[in-house]
Amino acid sequence: MSREHFDVARFPELNMPPRILMGPGPSTINPRVLRAMTTRVVGHLDPEFLRLMDRVQALLRYAFETENPLTIPISGTGSAAMEAAVANMVAPGDPVLVCVNGYFGLRIADMARRYGGDVATIARPWGEVFTPDEVEAALAQRPARVVAIVHAETSTGALQPLDEIARVVHAHDAILIVDAVTSLGGVPVRVDAVDIDVCYSGSQKCLSCPPGPSPITLGPRAVAKLEQRAAPVPNWYLDLTMVGKYWGQERTYHHTAPISAIYAFYEALRIVAAEGLENRWERHRRNAQLLWDGLEGLGLKLHVPLEHRLPTLTTVRVPDGVDEAAIRRRLLDEYNIEIGGGLGELRGTTWRIGLMGFSSRLENVVLLLSALDRLLH
Ligand SMILES: Cc1ncc(COP(=O)(O)O)c(C=O)c1O
Repeated sequence: MSREHFDVARFPELNMPPRILMGPGPSTINPRVLRAMTTRVVGHLDPEFLRLMDRVQALLRYAFETENPLTIPISGTGSAAMEAAVANMVAPGDPVLVCVNGYFGLRIADMARRYGGDVATIARPWGEVFTPDEVEAALAQRPARVVAIVHAETSTGALQPLDEIARVVHAHDAILIVDAVTSLGGVPVRVDAVDIDVCYSGSQKCLSCPPGPSPITLGPRAVAKLEQRAAPVPNWYLDLTMVGKYWGQERTYHHTAPISAIYAFYEALRIVAAEGLENRWERHRRNAQLLWDGLEGLGLKLHVPLEHRLPTLTTVRVPDGVDEAAIRRRLLDEYNIEIGGGLGELRGTTWRIGLMGFSSRLENVVLLLSALDRLLH
């Protein structure tokens, strides 16, 4: 195509529908967060930006409930934070144990193998959680230097209890990596109280910030392991010994921070702190309970038993004879509501309903329940 005849009219102005995001993420973005992104861009080493970075870190420590100095946003989505955790903690030949009860456990195991980890896995059916005894037995049989587990499995809607497992992992002198992508800001994560060594999350779930910067925090054991590495971290972009210098005292350039994304992230974290973690957890729990009661009232079956059910992401079994994709399509077309289909093993048999951050609202629950009632009955 010649440049003279390039038809610009084929490229309309951006105009996205006003979706209500009730899927596995992203959640609906708080308008305040969107506004923050239009703030003028300054340099990534500007003194004002450096001050903002300090504030972001302080807010992030609040959200993670940690004193860890190395608590920063990774420039990349949740998978980048996952990869940062794995790349920095797993040295070639390290025995690694990954607990797999859903799609994201599989992803961690895949990454750990790619970084040369000698990976063993233990498995639970999708929708169930691990007991400390299972982790203990696996480590007794085959010691590991790193253990990874998903706190909130977005593929199944199960919430993994962590306290006892952290004790077991440390009794075996291993590092505990926890994926809190779908829990941070929605359910308690309590990094210091639980004694998690590496914890990471995402921005677009319970923090209701556009996908982009992804928080990670490293405790003392993890920092010591990082400092004792024999060879450099084999991922340049995610090497926390270098990224940590930009976010730490040195302020050494590593890569240009995604400035506008950090503005958004700052505003999202400010909103979390203003509401308060306890209030936030309570709101997520209350709206989830309403959703669960309503879904059961419609005759639907929830995939995860109540005691391990995640308030931020609910998996619902698709009734026999119902075309699950058609229902999701009608929710989108007629109600502007996005919910998710099943992932991996649960594909085709479940829906995934997210009530995360700004999307966790009474009016969203009521609207979705009435839409489902109309579409199903
Ligand atoms: C539990 C969990 N871990 C990791 C990820 C990966 O995050 P992202 O898609 O932002 O890269 C997701 C995304 O849904 C997730 O739910």
